[in-house]
Amino acid sequence: MSGYAMNYLALAARDVDAVCRFLGGSLKLQRSDMPLEGRSIPFFGVGKSALAIFDFDDPYLEEPRFPGVHHMALAADDPAGAAAKHGLTMTDDGVGPDGKHFVSIEKSETIGIRTRFIEPLNIPAVDGPAYKIDHLGIATDDNDATVRVFADNLGCPIDSTQTDVEIRNVTESFISDKYGAVYHARPPEILGGLRDVFIIIGDCELELLMDYDPTLTPEAQLGEEEGNTKGDQSAIAKFVARRGPGLAHVAFATRDIDAVLPKLADDGWRMIDVEGRPGGRGSLIGFVHPSNFGGGLLIHFVEPQVDGGFAEKKFG
Ligand SMILES: [Fe+2]
Repeated sequence: MSGYAMNYLALAARDVDAVCRFLGGSLKLQRSDMPLEGRSIPFFGVGKSALAIFDFDDPYLEEPRFPGVHHMALAADDPAGAAAKHGLTMTDDGVGPDGKHFVSIEKSETIGIRTRFIEPLNIPAVDGPAYKIDHLGIATDDNDATVRVFADNLGCPIDSTQTDVEIRNVTESFISDKYGAVYHARPPEILGGLRDVFIIIGDCELELLMDYDPTLTPEAQLGEEEGNTKGDQSAIAKFVARRGPGLAHVAFATRDIDAVLPKLADDGWRMIDVEGRPGGRGSLIGFVHPSNFGGGLLIHFVEPQVDGGFAEKKFG
């Protein structure tokens, strides 16, 4: 595999205990506590990677600190050598969890995605309802620059690209009982859209999300029957405006989303979705409410495309 693999993903939480109960209790991920400067940091193995849960004002996390996804740490036997090899500027060089050496990369060089190289931590994982990190959602205003860093420079393969748009079509008709019907169609009106790029990092992916057209002003209300794309665009625009581009959410891969989501609701977690709904690339997705974790940490599940996609599974 070319490129780099994710060693761990650092989450900054207002309520560390709640995140640990969610990951260890409800999702049954295996917990390993790692020493870090006299304290102990809970890690949860998932697939070939892990999640590390920090209090959101933990000094290991450089500022500015927001609750949510803080940084990703890519495995490198020689962290400083890896940064130098790719011409990346190091802003920090120290000893992290379990005595592993790490370097932090100047975040403007990774388009706001806080990235570290670290000597690999060995975090065991067991199979369960969340069998790997599916992707990290990244709010960006420059997909091309992100591709230059992670694909062209670091050598991580691109899985695919896609454009999502929500379109309104208006047709007027003049229907005469004597002369028949005349139809005029207006050009399709793009209500909102996103341009996505998926870049492979080990056994998970970066999902770059960029507004299709940043000059569009999304309307405030969405009707029940409308799609989700325009609302997703608003969410990305808001994230970039508030925090700047960077890591926005984490998604877990699951084999049966319609079993996982109701189970989490039964466990008492507040859910945005209790049933999978159509996501990108033929998948089904469902979101957990950030209020469970004190706010700011956005998690969703993905059931990747099965043969024929969600349409066959749900409606076929
Ligand atoms: Fe996502």
